[in-house]
Amino acid sequence: MKSFIVLLSYISALPCGISALKPRDNGAGEIPEWHPPRPNDFRGPCPMMNTLANHGILPRNGRNITREAVIKGMKQGLNFDPALATIMFDQAVIANPEPNATFFTLDHLNRHNVLEHDASLSRTDAFFGSNHVFNQTIFDQTRRYWPEPVITTTHMANAKIARQIDSKAFNPTYRFTDAVEHFSLGEMAAPFIAFGDLENATVNRTLVEYFFQNERLPTELGWRVRDRVVSVKAILRISDMIGSATSLITDSGEGSGGNGMARKLRRGFHAGVRRDL
Ligand code: HEM
Ligand SMILES: *[C@@H]1O[C@H](CO)[C@@H](O)[C@H](O)[C@H]1NC(C)=O
Ligand SMILES: *[C@@H]1O[C@H](CO)[C@@H](O)[C@H](O)[C@H]1NC(C)=O
Ligand SMILES: *[C@@H]1O[C@H](CO)[C@@H](O)[C@H](O)[C@H]1NC(C)=O
Ligand SMILES: *[C@@H]1O[C@H](CO)[C@@H](O)[C@H](O)[C@H]1NC(C)=O
Ligand SMILES: *[C@@H]1O[C@H](CO)[C@@H](O)[C@H](O)[C@H]1NC(C)=O
Repeated sequence: MKSFIVLLSYISALPCGISALKPRDNGAGEIPEWHPPRPNDFRGPCPMMNTLANHGILPRNGRNITREAVIKGMKQGLNFDPALATIMFDQAVIANPEPNATFFTLDHLNRHNVLEHDASLSRTDAFFGSNHVFNQTIFDQTRRYWPEPVITTTHMANAKIARQIDSKAFNPTYRFTDAVEHFSLGEMAAPFIAFGDLENATVNRTLVEYFFQNERLPTELGWRVRDRVVSVKAILRISDMIGSATSLITDSGEGSGGNGMARKLRRGFHAGVRRDL
């Protein structure tokens, strides 16, 4: 999901006024029947690409995912702006090892450390097992950090950090570059983008769990494709909120740290101690 990511950096220059487009004029919202993958169908590490393939919104066999297919599928299943989907495709097609490829397959997405990376929310690291099959053990670990019926950006940030600490501590091949950090923040924003309230940056935990565990759009739980076109701005805003929420440092808060001068002196003292060590 390199997608969100870089798209974010270089799209921020584009005007984002398309979000007022009338919904459902361009095929947004038609959700075909869900079927589990058949034995020769390709699936990958992205729960959403798998989900869209399971609904036939992307090719059910997980092959020949072209620019056109991504634009149409992201509109239909998520009401993404075509410009956004185009950039996501351009970021993804490098997963196909052929030069100048015009499509990718869901199997291409499994290539470790191309787009796929360590410390996923719902897959184990390549070092430990399948880097792309849904892993209930890993997902249960993630869910511990979603303690309320509504997931906030702070809950999502905590889940992200927890997976990273676990990988860094126990996977001797742990790798998580600066580029991955950007991709990862886009992935962490994705459940809010697909199923949540973009203004409040919250998402119903039941919908998110259903999506990850079934690789299915939660229509039977009452979810429907959002009316407003998803803009890059919305994605950036949520990724930024999650990024900020990954900090482990709190504000000192009223009454907890005395006055500013005392705080400065204390900080100076600690800094001095560190220098002396
Ligand atoms: C061209 C479109 C897309 C491509 C090629 C793509 C590819 C990927 C890849 C390779 C990963 C694995 C990263 C890892 O190792 O954890 C991933 C993860 C993820 N993607 Fe996508 N993605 C796309 C679009 C989307 C969309 C539209 C959504 C939802 C709105 C989404 C939601 C997610 C989530 C939630 C994860 C994290 C899974 C986890 O941590 O277990 N993706 N994606
Ligand atoms: C791949 O998809 C494109 C566009 O959706 C289509 O024109 C083409 O025939 C497909 N190729 C194969 C091999 O299925
Ligand atoms: C890929 O595209 C580049 C730029 O258009 C071109 O120079 C190169 O020859 C192409 N490579 C292949 C294998 O088609
Ligand atoms: C799921 O993750 C656990 C913990 O890393 C691992 O032991 C197990 O082999 C994984 N299962 C699969 C199918 O990869
Ligand atoms: C967003 O928050 C506002 C203010 O707390 C609340 O009134 C509104 O219902 C919330 N929206 C959703 C969809 O939860
Ligand atoms: C979340 O969605 C489920 C399924 O539609 C619903 O039963 C539940 O009340 C929702 N939870 C919240 C907090 O809105």
